[in-house]
Amino acid sequence: MKSNLNLLVAWLWILLGFISGMALGMFFHGENWLGGYGSFRRRMYRLGHISFFGLGAVNLLFCLTVQNFSLAGPLVHFASLAFIVGAMAMPVCCGVMAHFPKAHLIFAVPVVSLLTGGVLTLALILEEPKAAGTANMTAPTLNNQPATVSSP
Ligand code: HEM
Repeated sequence: MKSNLNLLVAWLWILLGFISGMALGMFFHGENWLGGYGSFRRRMYRLGHISFFGLGAVNLLFCLTVQNFSLAGPLVHFASLAFIVGAMAMPVCCGVMAHFPKAHLIFAVPVVSLLTGGVLTLALILEEPKAAGTANMTAPTLNNQPATVSSP
């Protein structure tokens, strides 16, 4: 159930990545926009844009891992929450940092959350070799035939 929330966050974040890219795209031709391409503020905006995709993908991978390896238990819930908090905090921190560079310590929130999520997920996989081993044993066989268009 919880991992469905990660799936929702994943696709919402990918969509926000597109939207933030579109927003950047409206101004990025301006050479001096936000102080120029290499300026700290513009880099933070870019990092926020990219983090939507990266952390959307992380949440998607977590969801698929939980489902595919039938992981369950309280650690799964903690890991799920950690990835969601990390995904939410990272772009917010990028935005805050872009305007208040001295607030760099706030990056501890996404970093600690994501590290926690990563460690917990790894622990879950190592902890449940049976569940992992039996996961999706009936995986569909890959059809290695090239796709053909049936002739009329
Ligand atoms: C609707 C789709 C997208 C739009 C409109 C978009 C738009 C942009 C724009 C305008 C910039 C430049 C920002 C600047 O000049 O400061 C940028 C940078 C970047 N975008 Fe996107 N983007 C899109 C999708 C993606 C995707 C799917 C990825 C990767 C998963 C991605 C990764 C990046 C990266 C890594 C940079 C930094 C490039 C660099 O520093 O040279 N973007 N994007």
